[in-house]
Amino acid sequence: MSRKILAALGSVVLALSMAACSGDGAGGGGNDSDKPGDLTIGVSMPTQTSERWIADGNSVKEKLEAKGYKVDLQYAGDDIPTQSQQVDQMITRGADVLIIAAIDGTALSGQLQAAADAKIPVIAYDRLIRDSPNVDFYVSFDNFKVGVAQATALLVGLGLQTKDGGKGEATGPFNIELFAGSLDDNNAHFFFNGAMETLKPFIDAGTLKVKSGQTKIDQVAILRWQQEGAQKRMEDLLTSSYNDGSKVAGVLSPYDGLSRGIITALQNAGYSGDMPVVTGQDAEIASVKLINDGVQSSTIFKDTRLLAEQAVVAGESFLQDKTPQANDTETYNNGVKVVPSYLLPVQTVFKDDIKPVLIDSGYFTAEEVAAGQAKG
Ligand code: BGC
Repeated sequence: MSRKILAALGSVVLALSMAACSGDGAGGGGNDSDKPGDLTIGVSMPTQTSERWIADGNSVKEKLEAKGYKVDLQYAGDDIPTQSQQVDQMITRGADVLIIAAIDGTALSGQLQAAADAKIPVIAYDRLIRDSPNVDFYVSFDNFKVGVAQATALLVGLGLQTKDGGKGEATGPFNIELFAGSLDDNNAHFFFNGAMETLKPFIDAGTLKVKSGQTKIDQVAILRWQQEGAQKRMEDLLTSSYNDGSKVAGVLSPYDGLSRGIITALQNAGYSGDMPVVTGQDAEIASVKLINDGVQSSTIFKDTRLLAEQAVVAGESFLQDKTPQANDTETYNNGVKVVPSYLLPVQTVFKDDIKPVLIDSGYFTAEEVAAGQAKG
């Protein structure tokens, strides 16, 4: 290419990038002349039926507002068309950055294309948005490790392993059942894969027996992560596979809401006192109380305050026309590209961990744990 053509191309690129930076209002990421008060961040959350998403939404909003930004926070009631519509509206109302926790990770490609056309950066919040080139960043936890931690908590609860990774005193064999989350949530697959990799040697050795024989994710998944769906499936399992006097010793559950459904089914079927080992995730207050009372065995704590903080850091980078800092650029391929990610660590919580991990960090008070209800 001749120098002349290169120079001409250079000025076109310069002109285009100046145009991209000069937008005042409708999208376009940040620019130097915009003050935080002139910038709006659209925050789209999936549902208010699970308290973790309420905490996430509130944390992101508070942290952004503390920096002076305007926040358009919407919950979609776990309804895919509602979420699409809410994101559409955020775009037309002139959001400068979008932070989205998708209900169905594959259902927002149209909205993301519109965001890209309006030069609005998109951050996938906790759940990866799939099948779109227009996801600019991903903030989450290490989701495979969540699955490993859940399975390890099941092994520890059963006494097959010690907390520090040693061999436990129990020998089994134990009957267990497996649950997974919603198949349209990318995380559900990471959780299940992490858990199965950990449980497989025990299943292969016959130490753990999945009595129903249901070990594939599409056999054990619960649509939209619904508590009632988990209760119903556990009831069906008890009727079909445990009507011969045999007992369930453990249940791999990937989310506290599902765990509560599973526990209700077990209790209705006469399990009490020495309950089967049931795992969980999210440290929801109702489940933390159940752990404190010895009913649920464990949960995985994901500090939503830290996740919200990372979303804010990433959002602010985009608003300042910078690239947010990733700590993982390999794991999260969304079907079109690997999305640069910032992943946070997680902590397993058994009864003994409630005080040091949840109360001492100010996540819950001792009173909230005792009552099983957050003051909000
Ligand atoms: C989140 C979990 C949550 C689940 C159900 C997943 O995408 O990563 O923390 O338990 O959704 O809300």
